[in-house]
Amino acid sequence: MPQVLITGTSSGLGRGVAVRLDALGWEVLGTVRDTSTAPELSFETVALDVTDEVAVAALGREVLSRWGRLDALVNNAGHLLYGPVEELGANELRRQLDVNVVGAAAVTRAMLPALRAGRGAVVQVSSVAGQVGYPLFSAYCASKFGLEGLSEALAQEVVAQGIRVVLVEPSEFRTDISSKGSAIADRGASAVYADQWQEQDEWTEWMRSDAAPDAAVCVDAIVGAVTRSDAPPRIAVGEQTAEAVRQHARAIIAQMDASEAFLRSL
Ligand SMILES: NC(=O)c1ccc[n+]([C@@H]2O[C@H](COP(=O)([O-])OP(=O)(O)OC[C@H]3O[C@@H](n4cnc5c(N)ncnc54)[C@H](OP(=O)(O)O)[C@@H]3O)[C@@H](O)[C@H]2O)c1
Repeated sequence: MPQVLITGTSSGLGRGVAVRLDALGWEVLGTVRDTSTAPELSFETVALDVTDEVAVAALGREVLSRWGRLDALVNNAGHLLYGPVEELGANELRRQLDVNVVGAAAVTRAMLPALRAGRGAVVQVSSVAGQVGYPLFSAYCASKFGLEGLSEALAQEVVAQGIRVVLVEPSEFRTDISSKGSAIADRGASAVYADQWQEQDEWTEWMRSDAAPDAAVCVDAIVGAVTRSDAPPRIAVGEQTAEAVRQHARAIIAQMDASEAFLRSL
């Protein structure tokens, strides 16, 4: 029976992936921060805050001694913070990076010995915001761009060990992310962002409504990244998501053309 560790399985995508892999016969260990939510879950859970480096390292040792191998790690735990850079506190930004990048890196580091033994897969739940910058999402984008860079480098470090790395880049799916996510503390400190805040509030309301896309499509994509050895290194999931990434890539190519022309003109 293949084994998988999934972070952030108390709700949303992580919970959906854990339930699905459990039903497919995988041995699932899911992490939650509040273990009082665990009894209602069908798969085994363990308490973990991904920012607790000591606990993360201990879990790595536990997985290795319990299973001796790991077929897949899904770094799903994540948090959404929003607001303009001018109102963003340094500690708020640190916290965002700590969960979404440093936490994912720490869990990966802790699981690599078991993943090596299992010639397993690291599936990183990134975001379209890891490829494209969006106003008021600077902290979140910084974290997901960071996760993307880390993962590109990681993939090259571990390919010879038989470990594959897949980035899943969802756009917008109905989960708890917009209710658990938080506006920055200094919201509205500068009136110049009032219109952008209004758009943000409308987006948040839409994300919490039934109009937001069902997360099942995204759960399918993450499960596919885990179970299919032919999964591509990036999976952009959601309506128009691949096209948004393509457009951004084309804009970067145009910027590089402009860069070369500019340098020639100096
Ligand atoms: N939903 C979308 O539209 C969307 C789009 C792009 C990317 N994503 C990414 O998908 C992933 C899952 O998010 P979701 O949409 O399923 O939202 P969600 O329902 O809020 O789930 C987030 C999970 O991460 C956990 N988590 C947060 N901080 C943690 C920490 N410090 N340590 C351990 N676990 C922590 C949460 O646990 P608690 O219950 O303890 O808070 C929860 O289980 C995230 O990485 C998110 O960035 C989501």
